[in-house]
Amino acid sequence: MDAAEKISVEDEAVDKKIFKDCSKIAFYRRQKQRLSKKSTYRALLDSVTEGKESTRFQIINEAAKVPLLAEVYGIEGNIFRLKINEEAPLKPRYEVPDVLTSKPSTVRLISCSGDTGSLVLANGKGDLKCHITANPFKIDLVSEEEVVMSINSLGQLYFEQLQIPPKQSRATKENEEDTSDDTTQENQEELGLWEEKFRNFVDVKDNGPASIGLDFSLHGFEHVYGIPQHAESHQLKNTSDGDAYRLYNLDVYGYKIHDKMGIYGSVPYLLAHKLGRTLGIFWLNASETLVEINTEPAVKYALTQMGPVAAKEKGRSQTDVHWMSESGIIDVFLLTGPTPSDVFKQYSYLTGTQAMPPLFSLGYHQCRWNYKDEHDVKAVDAGFDEHDIPYDVMWLDIEHTEGKRYFTWDKKRFPNPKRMQELLRSKKRKLVVISDPHIKIDPDYLVYAKAKEQGFFVRNHEGGDFEGVCWPGLSSYLDFTSPKVREWYSSLFAFSVYQGSTDILYIWNDMNEPSVFRGPELTMQKNAIHHGNWEHRELHNIYGFYQQMATAEGLIQRSKGKERPFVLTRSFFAGSQKYGAVWTGDNTAEWSYLKISIPMLLTLSVTGISFCGADVGGFIGNPEAELLVRWYQAGAYQPFFRGHATKNTKRREPWLFGEEHTRLIQEAIRERYALLPYWYSLFYSAHVASQPVMRPLWVEFPDELETFSVEDEYMLGSALLVHPVTEPKATVVDVFLPGSSEVWYDSKTFAHWEGACTVKIPVALDTIPVFQRGGSVVPIKTTIGRSTGCMTDSPYGLWVALSTKGSAVGEFYLDDGHSFQYLHQKQFLHRKFSFTSGVLINSCADKRGHYPSKCVVEQILVLGLKKHPSSVTSHSPDGKAQPVAFTYCAKTSTLNLEKFSLNIGADWKVQIQ
Ligand code: NOJ
Repeated sequence: MDAAEKISVEDEAVDKKIFKDCSKIAFYRRQKQRLSKKSTYRALLDSVTEGKESTRFQIINEAAKVPLLAEVYGIEGNIFRLKINEEAPLKPRYEVPDVLTSKPSTVRLISCSGDTGSLVLANGKGDLKCHITANPFKIDLVSEEEVVMSINSLGQLYFEQLQIPPKQSRATKENEEDTSDDTTQENQEELGLWEEKFRNFVDVKDNGPASIGLDFSLHGFEHVYGIPQHAESHQLKNTSDGDAYRLYNLDVYGYKIHDKMGIYGSVPYLLAHKLGRTLGIFWLNASETLVEINTEPAVKYALTQMGPVAAKEKGRSQTDVHWMSESGIIDVFLLTGPTPSDVFKQYSYLTGTQAMPPLFSLGYHQCRWNYKDEHDVKAVDAGFDEHDIPYDVMWLDIEHTEGKRYFTWDKKRFPNPKRMQELLRSKKRKLVVISDPHIKIDPDYLVYAKAKEQGFFVRNHEGGDFEGVCWPGLSSYLDFTSPKVREWYSSLFAFSVYQGSTDILYIWNDMNEPSVFRGPELTMQKNAIHHGNWEHRELHNIYGFYQQMATAEGLIQRSKGKERPFVLTRSFFAGSQKYGAVWTGDNTAEWSYLKISIPMLLTLSVTGISFCGADVGGFIGNPEAELLVRWYQAGAYQPFFRGHATKNTKRREPWLFGEEHTRLIQEAIRERYALLPYWYSLFYSAHVASQPVMRPLWVEFPDELETFSVEDEYMLGSALLVHPVTEPKATVVDVFLPGSSEVWYDSKTFAHWEGACTVKIPVALDTIPVFQRGGSVVPIKTTIGRSTGCMTDSPYGLWVALSTKGSAVGEFYLDDGHSFQYLHQKQFLHRKFSFTSGVLINSCADKRGHYPSKCVVEQILVLGLKKHPSSVTSHSPDGKAQPVAFTYCAKTSTLNLEKFSLNIGADWKVQIQ
């Protein structure tokens, strides 16, 4: 494919007509049509059986008469699972494998039947109950006598039973719930039962209609979040008819913002929050899914002719969530919280926590499509050193390969990839190269030939290898859903197999929705066939997940299980956090895209994917210097920090915009590097304790209503509040500082404010509004090197910000930064800092860990110290007391301790008198 064709594919992709809206989705139309006819389900409670793991009973629809089987499970950690399937389907229906980390441990539910028309299942303690009403079928989730959620209370349970294709049998009538009264040709087409047309594409459905749906009413909830990925606000909006949130992984170049269409990844997991309770609904289904949201607030203002009258209480607020999927079964997990932190733990118990990233990957990444050749790489690398800008990773996009044949190198441009990597290694830097799932059809290309020979490609409807066009031209697509294919793919990363690769080379999986240029909606036909004879429609949303899984495994294996992988993926699903990082795809160099990066990343973060970022600068187009600077400043405070630009854009390495802008970008990147100890500690907490790194304010302040809709600022961990500047020519930003008992410190000026107020912060182009929460200790590096690897031994500093009560706490985590020894040999250091009554104590937070570090703390900054100390003394582990030099600034109430050195891993204290 030549460049012109590529560009036209991309131009075309921006056109929304290429993608379906709800009206073009047959299962959506069918569900709407059927549900408007209201035929309710009834639970047959005399059919209840109590198995070892679950309680089962039949539910029956008056119109269809064919029973469904419902199973209710109690799962460890206050989770319920509801499965609904056909009792005896014509053939098995797809149940998503490989997402749950292991089989969740079930807890026995005690059935204490209510009256004859209901069944009550309670957990051991009896504080959580599922109250099942028989007719019409409904489940209420009751927590401490409060109904927090109702299932099917709106009667939207929908389940299309598998049928014998009409051609095979004329006697299908009784079985055909959906065709029974809709047999005209026109209606058949409208319903898209066995065939669905979209533009020039015809989706032939051998299994016929198999769609499912269910509603959930969340009582007292007005705020719902989650279900990435959409270029939308963090708080989910009400959907109108035909405008549901779509979960369908698609390659949408320059996606429109404030839109509910599906883009690269899907996590079918929604969180709801109100005062006193957070809940989660995890809908484990990998087929195309639509989610409708309807929030009715508690308070309604009535308008009279005289003008607004007093607010009228309308009982309780409620949010209704309606899930619809094209196929599979209903398999839904109800996470009952009650706190945000509990819900995060419950979700990660099911799908795993964020992989612990290698330290280098938290540094700055420099990418562009494309760095032309080895010489270019060398020059860009040197540019960073010349301008004294730290960076960790150089990236190579598709042009580094021989004609987009992944695992190869363009011999002219990159004649000696190992030499190039050695240059990077000499500065303790890394290389990331791209590896997409499409494989060029070329019998002389070894990867293709081997995969072809072994039958490792996805097959088309006719049984041959699926063929589609992507970057290399005609390609076949590896079937990552097959464990064998994954195993083989992983083996391609072995150093002996991947010629020119070294242990500083890491991987980027792109185009793995999968992107198929001439396919329907630029993706794969839904009737393509995967391992196990499953249609692509069943598992579309999990395809990319599997590629990242196989890649991460490959990188682990090449190091014989010793080293942590780094893999960035564009497409993802629930659980992708276990395999690496995710970014928000092809954004545009416009202010609005900078702004929306914040809610997009917050949404990913609360759905388990902490390691996420957006292309700094905006991938498409040419940012003006001011936008680029602001984007670096925002990116420096987002988890995955990579500059990237599309083909044919102007070069935009940080030093190309004049001295002043270079300095500002350098400053932003250096701030990132200074805070790396804090970032790394936060990732450890995400990894072991399921807490997101980037947190919406409502997570940290769940009892403060004002925080629930905030999305132009966020918390990094629990200590830093960041409010990136996302407007051009800004001279002031309104920063909301939450918490009536909190105190907040400006991280540069040290000015402080009491919480629960909005302050106007003046900003110049060098201002990144960051505030430290009183009561926290943040570990930093005091010396910045040219990469994270160059900073291993550099000293630490501590920012101690005192609470209104004059105390502070914080944690610090350290290990070798790259291996699994932290896990297997407990080679890590986990420390705790606490400051009370003028004494700062460094103590051990986890006695299981040991890691020798020569690093010292050489600076301590105490913010909010009201009184000038008379002396400061350090007490080292051997009991030796030593005076510490200090400066105190009465104007800003800050104490600065310098010129001392105390080992970061030792027990010591510093006393201020
Ligand atoms: C699409 C990706 O989103 C983009 O980041 C990349 O540069 C191009 N593919 C080319 O590989």
